[in-house]
Amino acid sequence: MDYQGVIEEVYQEVQQENQRGKVATYIPELASVNPDQFGIALVDLQGRVYGVGDYQLPFSIQSISKVLTLTMVFPKFDPQLWSRVNVEPSGNPFNSIAQLEYEKGIPRNPFINAGALVITDALCSKFDNPTQQISEFINEIAGKNCVAINPAVKSSEQNHAERNTALAYFLKSYKNFDNPINQVLDVYFSHCAMEMSCVDLAKSFSFLANDGYSLFAQREILSESHARRINAIMLTCGFYDEAGEFAYRVGLPGKSGVGGGVAAVMPHKFSIAVWSPELNEKGNSVKSIRALELLTDKLSFSLF
Ligand code: DON
Repeated sequence: MDYQGVIEEVYQEVQQENQRGKVATYIPELASVNPDQFGIALVDLQGRVYGVGDYQLPFSIQSISKVLTLTMVFPKFDPQLWSRVNVEPSGNPFNSIAQLEYEKGIPRNPFINAGALVITDALCSKFDNPTQQISEFINEIAGKNCVAINPAVKSSEQNHAERNTALAYFLKSYKNFDNPINQVLDVYFSHCAMEMSCVDLAKSFSFLANDGYSLFAQREILSESHARRINAIMLTCGFYDEAGEFAYRVGLPGKSGVGGGVAAVMPHKFSIAVWSPELNEKGNSVKSIRALELLTDKLSFSLF
């Protein structure tokens, strides 16, 4: 399969169409990125890397980090974790608070902010130095030291933390939060403010295409059964209130972030990361989604 040729074609077509969106502004520091940056990196199961455009430039991974924190927590808390957070699509925006009240403090899934805060809380209960251990874990599965926390993005989000702080207090009021709120928020903002390039992100997601085994860490990261389940949650919940649309247009498990990145996997074939900062009104990258749609069309395969 000529993956390099296909991603180059996709890149050209997306650039020609030039569909636009808006960079995230609710985290002010994210508004200062160059909106024209665009990169694609694909990693196959032999570890070969294919890349085009700005695929080696680091960007803010934001909510994509939630897949990796879930990966760290899942084996340690399975199955009790699933009494604290569900695995249903929310049909609501990523930072919605309404559903949390009428569903009695149990977030719909681990990728909306409320659910991700529960996962980060669980992580704080099991790891002594959570932020550092998240970085170490990601560096391990990417096969090199590549993660840096952008302090300006972290403090920008901390200075506009009202919504996430409210979610954390709300969870605590339902006794679904064990650790001090400020500690968990600090770890949460740190993992959201991590920066990685498309190539390192595609490498770090490779184990999810490979039944849980990472070629780059050279070890099993998750059992085959746990890896399948994370892929199922990405497929149904990875794009918030646009998860159905992504499954329809692209047909791969994936996860977006408000930095404009999307990481996705084609099980038993490849992992891929795409980045373009401009977002649609659901908070997902316009060009990244379009690129993945063209990719699965051109390859004539997806999960389906
Ligand atoms: O908590 C937040 O709002 C951000 N740190 C992450 C949100 C995000 O990336 C949503 N994804 N599309």
